[in-house]
Amino acid sequence: MTAIAKQEGFLETSDPALQESADRGEAKLLSYRQLYELWERQQWATQDLDFSRDRADWHERIEPEERFQRMYGLSAFFIGEQRVTDELGPIMRACPTEEQRIFLSTQIADEARHVRFFNRFYEAVGVLEGADDLAARLRATEQHLNESFGELFDGMLKGRVDRLAAEPENTELLVESITLYHMIIEGALALTGQHFIIEYNEEQNTLPGFVEGFQNVSRDEHRHIAFGVRFLTDMAKQDGRYREAIQRTMAEALPIADQVLDPPWAEEDDWELFGYSREETHAFAAQCLSRRLKVIGLAA
Ligand SMILES: [Fe+2]
Ligand SMILES: [Fe+2]
Repeated sequence: MTAIAKQEGFLETSDPALQESADRGEAKLLSYRQLYELWERQQWATQDLDFSRDRADWHERIEPEERFQRMYGLSAFFIGEQRVTDELGPIMRACPTEEQRIFLSTQIADEARHVRFFNRFYEAVGVLEGADDLAARLRATEQHLNESFGELFDGMLKGRVDRLAAEPENTELLVESITLYHMIIEGALALTGQHFIIEYNEEQNTLPGFVEGFQNVSRDEHRHIAFGVRFLTDMAKQDGRYREAIQRTMAEALPIADQVLDPPWAEEDDWELFGYSREETHAFAAQCLSRRLKVIGLAA
């Protein structure tokens, strides 16, 4: 288990990716109500973070070329958080039970806080020159993303959520949307990026304010994913159609998600980013995913 997973609060979420027993398909999953209560206990404020050393690190200790590479990872998160904040409303509304809708309402607040976290970091550190408010920063940041990112977030996710807003009783579409949102985007992509970015900064002893905030983001994500696993486990038990919807969505989205992890300047398959190989990052994502799928009752 990684150093991050040992930190207080991470294990409490019961994300199967953090439980070795999940390799055998066994995990203790929290109920929707327990997940809500955990949210109440795991609050934090972006305003409490101190970015003064981060600012000095960014401009004085990190070389220009490395700054550019770090920007790619940060941009994907900044924009990713903004996209998922905006898309979660219709998913929340389409959930069949009040307990589920209440939990997802807390998640909307979390995702908004994650956008604010990145905005504060960019502002306090001075990451982008000439972009002075949230909208300008988001526009400037979008230039750093690759094509697969657009396909996944603006094509696959937004397309489904738009349909779901018009047909909130379409539970099969809801299952597809949660598979994409919680299992692929949060589970396979976000947590993988977070894991390596935090580990790299800790090794290099850089950006302490960012690391502190990003650990809180990561703990929130484990809680969100724990909801996704609970929901998909419940649905998969209910009806074979839902099991098929999960599998179909995974098959469609995984190849695209795989490419989102690749930085836009990587022409070969054997790139390295911050000392981690493509193989290492993909293997980490695959292990987390396979544990969660086994718990849901689906083979990876
Ligand atoms: Fe988030
Ligand atoms: Fe999330």
